[in-house]
Amino acid sequence: MTTITMDQAANHLNQEVTINAWVTNKRSSGKIAFLQLRDGVVNFQGIVLKQEVGEDLFDLAKGLNQETSVQVKGVVQADDRSSLGYELLVKDIQVIGESHDYPITPKDHGTDFLMDHRHLWLRSNRQHAIMQVRNEIIRATYEFFNDRGFLKIDPPILTGSAPEGTTELFHTKYFDEDAYLSQSGQLYMEAAAMAFGKVFSFGPTFRAEKSKTRRHLIEFWMMEPEMAFTDHEASLQVQEEYVAYLVRNVIDHCGLALETLGRDIQQLEKYTQLPYPRIEYSDAVQLLQDNGFEDIQWGDDFGSPHETFIASQNDQPVFIINWPRAIKPFYMKVNPDNPETVLCADMIAPEGYGEIIGGSQRIDDYETLSENIKSYQLDPEVYAWYLDLRQYGSVPHSGFGLGLERAVAWITGIEHIRETSPFPRLLNRLYP
Ligand code: 4AD
Ligand code: MG
Repeated sequence: MTTITMDQAANHLNQEVTINAWVTNKRSSGKIAFLQLRDGVVNFQGIVLKQEVGEDLFDLAKGLNQETSVQVKGVVQADDRSSLGYELLVKDIQVIGESHDYPITPKDHGTDFLMDHRHLWLRSNRQHAIMQVRNEIIRATYEFFNDRGFLKIDPPILTGSAPEGTTELFHTKYFDEDAYLSQSGQLYMEAAAMAFGKVFSFGPTFRAEKSKTRRHLIEFWMMEPEMAFTDHEASLQVQEEYVAYLVRNVIDHCGLALETLGRDIQQLEKYTQLPYPRIEYSDAVQLLQDNGFEDIQWGDDFGSPHETFIASQNDQPVFIINWPRAIKPFYMKVNPDNPETVLCADMIAPEGYGEIIGGSQRIDDYETLSENIKSYQLDPEVYAWYLDLRQYGSVPHSGFGLGLERAVAWITGIEHIRETSPFPRLLNRLYP
């Protein structure tokens, strides 16, 4: 007898099959029991008829606890009422692993309780749907960049440098030296771009940020392309095409997951339209001041209320371009049209999800970069290799970083970033 998962039911209609699963719920009357089963791919119903299986097996079915693992044998039947279209008429049940007093019951639980039981909470339909979207975004990312001739490069996670500022670093000892967990692979990706032209990375990054918001994780995954012979304008086009591609693929491949999450597909469709609007930082400040944000001054960084307001003016993600030099990292190239600003952009997602991409054109000239390293009080010895890139055939180059979990939160439409990671690392949470 073939062992299947129930998503393959259509190929086994009216045949007897074996399925390995967990019991998520059940109800029964005197003659019939309905088992709700999860095989890891889909949820489905098993029907147990007392008349067919006999008293002993029927009693066993009726007594199965939530999350007991079972091997069921049965016949695949068509069932119009289930979203799957099929159910299983059960013939036999073997208990694999018992389960007693499963802590997460069908009633509502508080967030802290669920986070403490994250290792079990992952079994829910909702978490499954979110992980499916996350997986699709990862899959589509590899596809997008491979199709466009980018080479995947893995920058190191243990580093001696701090591309995004020194305040948010996780420090560790590297034998006798000091080391940090990577905040961003960018500097290494610049070296790779000088070797291979177009490259992208996709890996874990760490920020020891004391932020406890719905957008911040301590450990998150970043996707960072870097492109030689590319100015910032061309990079913006890659960014919007990439994000629209992610949304398109999630709509096309994760229909059931989006339905489970109650995501409005019409809304998502709007995000596949290009180009995305752009606003100069200076104009954004003006817009904010004109709309009651009197506290904001030219030169200030934006907080989430500011980002949310600017995003609310559009039905698509919006680029805020050309930020003040003073609030951006040392490696960004000065904007020749306004030297107080740099050639960079943040892409702000709609619906209050905030910045999902940060990107810029990099300084390609040795003198300027060398001066910046000094004026930002960075150790020139640590950055000697990075400066080397400006000595041997330096070229204009640009790149960006997309935060995977922010993208997942936005595309799934969920409230908080903590559910986008299987085991989120949050402020004050390392368990489980
Ligand atoms: O804007 P950031 O700090 O940019 C960089 O690190 C650049 N070196 C990227 C590059 O040009 N190669 O971070 C990029 C993105 C943000 O837009 C956001 O989506 C995400 O990373 N991000 C976070 N996501 C979750 N939790 C946090 N604490 C995050 N910090 C940044
Ligand atoms: Mg940023």
